[in-house]
Amino acid sequence: MHLSEILNHLGEDRKNYFNAVSPPIIQSSNFAFDSLESFRHQVADELSNHIYTRGNNPTVEILRKKLAALEGAEDSLVLASGAAATAMALIANVKQGDHVVCVQNPYSWTKHLLMNFLPRFGITHTFVDGTATANIEAAIQPNTTFMYLESPNTMTFELQDLKACASLARQHGIVTLIDNSNCSPIFQRPIELGIDMVMHTGTKYLNGHSDVVNGVICGSHHMIRKIFETEIMTLGNIISPHDAWLVIRGLRTLELRVKRSFESALKIAAWLEGHPKTGQVLFPFLPSFPQYDLATQQMEGCGGLVTVFLKTDSIERVEAFFNRLKRFLFAVSWGGHESLIMPSAAFYNIIGRANPPYPFTMVRLYIGLEDPDWLMEDLSAGLAEL
Ligand SMILES: Cc1ncc(COP(=O)(O)O)c(C=O)c1O
Repeated sequence: MHLSEILNHLGEDRKNYFNAVSPPIIQSSNFAFDSLESFRHQVADELSNHIYTRGNNPTVEILRKKLAALEGAEDSLVLASGAAATAMALIANVKQGDHVVCVQNPYSWTKHLLMNFLPRFGITHTFVDGTATANIEAAIQPNTTFMYLESPNTMTFELQDLKACASLARQHGIVTLIDNSNCSPIFQRPIELGIDMVMHTGTKYLNGHSDVVNGVICGSHHMIRKIFETEIMTLGNIISPHDAWLVIRGLRTLELRVKRSFESALKIAAWLEGHPKTGQVLFPFLPSFPQYDLATQQMEGCGGLVTVFLKTDSIERVEAFFNRLKRFLFAVSWGGHESLIMPSAAFYNIIGRANPPYPFTMVRLYIGLEDPDWLMEDLSAGLAEL
């Protein structure tokens, strides 16, 4: 289906709501039936019918259809956060005694889930450098049932060869899931490469306006129903109809936004790479990126995240760089309209905490929708402080 059809029309049955162009927010927890017969018939399938909003809601359902189509999946679920999506997809597919192979630097709370939560239920894991599929293969044990991928990750952008991972997992009967948040479905469609399930922090590009926290799981009818009937209905961490409506609105401009972010980030990354005050610049579409060939082969682009190392030994100079900036917001997260900067120096010298494993000169930029030249003027002024 054409991307324009998905973003603008799919799932929107306008004749059911006065031909309104924008769908209604069905702000109802509950749905009534015309007859006992209809009640009996519909209650047999809570995922597809409208019974109670913890299960399915018409506004959320429009969003589910669009997200599934964007990823080329049969169905999707939308949850209260990306962390919930990761947890539900993983928990639904493991049991006591199972082992998970996970890439070495996933999103921090994914790491936490594997290190501190799942071991309480007898589920073990191995973190592995996924830049070589052979490392993933070597980590597989007889009880491995799940492979967790994140390609690229959102700090240093390591990739996995998704086709090779999918084929390896299939040989061993292992379920695969990828966090595809960095690329968004505009630039990477892992299900077409053989991956079973895709998750997103929809908080980032899918919503795109820094005003909704949500998460997405896409997969086959069978996999989605399995997660729905056990984890979702018992743990109940759903998105509200109002937030779902905001994400539908955000999706209207998804293609424009991520392409703009990508193009601006590429321009800024290339400029930073040539700047005398910077060291290494990491961005998957710079020819200097260690996995550039794989990036250009399996992705059509990426988002607006760029990591740069400042050329200085002094934390005071790093602080002067940050204090000079006026056009970037200091913040975690990414994927909205606004450009952000995350200083690793902010995680240094916190009383009671060890310093992070990366240098204080490391800076993660998120390039939003502003004019890239206007942003470079700001960075240029900051770099002059080094
Ligand atoms: C790559 C990635 N995955 C998952 C998450 C978790 O998503 P959420 O914050 O929506 O729970 C984040 C959040 O920053 C993330 O960056």
